[in-house]
Amino acid sequence: MLRHFYFLFRTEARRAQRNSLVFRLSLCPLRLCAKKINFCDTGSFIFAFRQGGCTGRSCLIHCIPVVCARNIRGLEKNMLPPKIAASMMCADFLNLGKDVTDLEQAGVEYLHFDIMDGVFVPNMMLCNEMMKGLRKATKIPFDVHLMIVNPEQKIRWFDLEPGDLVSVHYESTPHLHRAIQEINNAGAKPAIALNPATPICCIEHVLPDVEMVLLMTVNPGFAGQKLVEQTLEKIRVTRDFLDTSGYRNVMLQVDGNCSFANIPRMRAKGADCFVAGSSSVFAQGTTIAAACKRLREVMK
Ligand code: DX5
Ligand code: ZN
Repeated sequence: MLRHFYFLFRTEARRAQRNSLVFRLSLCPLRLCAKKINFCDTGSFIFAFRQGGCTGRSCLIHCIPVVCARNIRGLEKNMLPPKIAASMMCADFLNLGKDVTDLEQAGVEYLHFDIMDGVFVPNMMLCNEMMKGLRKATKIPFDVHLMIVNPEQKIRWFDLEPGDLVSVHYESTPHLHRAIQEINNAGAKPAIALNPATPICCIEHVLPDVEMVLLMTVNPGFAGQKLVEQTLEKIRVTRDFLDTSGYRNVMLQVDGNCSFANIPRMRAKGADCFVAGSSSVFAQGTTIAAACKRLREVMK
């Protein structure tokens, strides 16, 4: 069996090398030997080589475990490109048009609208009329975060466009899948949001139907809060869960206290999209352009 596996490995490794996928030089990650080896990523497996060619039998001992290592993040670093979703509840309402122009020039990927009903969260915020008004001023897709009860009954209230994302909270309705269907019917892309205390396993059976998972890294309802530290580990657990369950393309968004200091920590755990509010894009004492430039650097 070992021989058979080795043969498969060698064939695959040669094919991968021909396709020039070798990308990294490192030590044996399992510390079984001290040799320097190259890694190559074929998409679903990591292969290991010595520099200049396929390893011989002498390296079998560490190559076999490596070739088995499916989806190991950190070795494989095959992450989705990082994205900024600017949190519009933190924009300057006296100069909203200018802020949107600045965000467009800075190339932010989404405008994030926090819709709050005073029931699901202890605050009221933003509305469809505001989104309709801003739609005329920008081509940036909207990322609509619904913090409202029974969202499945209310999706139709919103003027959505193809390319918009709409997040509904797992905790906000017993009819989560119906809410997803309504978002699809409205032509937008469905996403599920989770409060800090809600485990990722709760949404396992709707994952085939969603484009994004939103992890709250503060309790929803207010800008300017401090990061709930244990959500950092939840980001890692969620990204691993998505990757190992066949949902590598599902984006992982984080919302709450995405500051210049916290974003690198969140990115290292596997977050792909950052809701940037008073902690970064709209931070006091900087401009949108300067903040976005700095954000791009810390998101890498
Ligand atoms: C909370 C909101 C926010 C906010 C992000 O319900 O969704 O987390 O807009 O902004 P800051 O950076 O202030 O946390
Ligand atoms: Zn939000």
